[in-house]
Amino acid sequence: MKRRDFLKGMVATGAGVAISGGVGTLSKAHAKSKLEDFGEIKSLKVHCISETSWFDNPTLGADIKAAGGINTNQYDVAYNEENLGGYAALVEVEALDGKKTKYLLDTGWSNDWMDYVFEKDGIDKMLQSKEIDTLIISHDHIDHYFALESTLKHQPDIKIYFPGTSMKKSFELLKGADFSATPGCPKNSVPHTGELIVTETNKLYKLQEGAAIVFFDAPATLQVRGENVMYFKIKDKGYVTVTGCCHPGIMTLINHARRNFKDGNNNYGCYGGLHISPFENWDPKMDDLIQGVKAMNMTKIGCNHCTGWIWAEKAAQMGLPIVNGTNKNLSYKKTGTLAQAKTSNVYLGNGDDIVF
Ligand SMILES: [Fe+2]
Ligand SMILES: [Fe+2]
Repeated sequence: MKRRDFLKGMVATGAGVAISGGVGTLSKAHAKSKLEDFGEIKSLKVHCISETSWFDNPTLGADIKAAGGINTNQYDVAYNEENLGGYAALVEVEALDGKKTKYLLDTGWSNDWMDYVFEKDGIDKMLQSKEIDTLIISHDHIDHYFALESTLKHQPDIKIYFPGTSMKKSFELLKGADFSATPGCPKNSVPHTGELIVTETNKLYKLQEGAAIVFFDAPATLQVRGENVMYFKIKDKGYVTVTGCCHPGIMTLINHARRNFKDGNNNYGCYGGLHISPFENWDPKMDDLIQGVKAMNMTKIGCNHCTGWIWAEKAAQMGLPIVNGTNKNLSYKKTGTLAQAKTSNVYLGNGDDIVF
């Protein structure tokens, strides 16, 4: 995250140094008169299908730079195809009555890579047997969305939640478009035939008792905008936030729960890319973010993808409850080229689980 965006986020959310002394409750003036209550679940398991969206940071950086930089349209960049992976997670909800429901969060970038990880985890079979209820696209960024075909080829009529701010070409991809003349850009030969729910800013979409999506309109790189965020309320524990990239900022998401949800001050945990230092650049302001998250008193933090190893390692050292991965990712046919991908376990890596 750029420092400017970071600071903007802090101003917008009222988070940061001022709250680092303690959690407290938001004053009545700040609280909505009617807090949202979308029920409770018994437990939540998130399985990391893949968090390696690409394998080599400098290669992706060079591809983007050659196309005009970080504000270029993502469909106008020629990407090195050897470098592409993808982000996806299997989110399994256990309802209060014990019934389990599976959701797929995102569908990755490279069809080859996604075919490989889907097969490894049996996601392909789960889609074919309609065991997976819904596909939630967090946002239409390259690494979360371009391998749409890898999901649709198993279940073309799967219900999809899709950000309303997505690019025109991303909507066309749903219908079956081909942008693959540009290397690393997508092709979908299986048009979507199921229900499509296009999400709108700040609206809450209830998936089932205790599980909801909120859409946030926030700027991201490569001209992408907006993100669907999953919220769960776990009985006797509190709220868990599950994200693709977390472009709106983790404090924005936590504060949304605090301001708008019943018992919103109980933040139990989070999972996902936290988009703090995706290219491993340390900014001293990130210390404030560690303090800000610490003040939320979460019990479990599962992070990976665009969080930045550099942030996750420092956050763990400073006492944040980072849940360690198991290095299962090392048995995959490709691993990230950063040394930390092999030596550190502060990321929940490919094949790892977290239970809330
Ligand atoms: Fe991402
Ligand atoms: Fe993203």
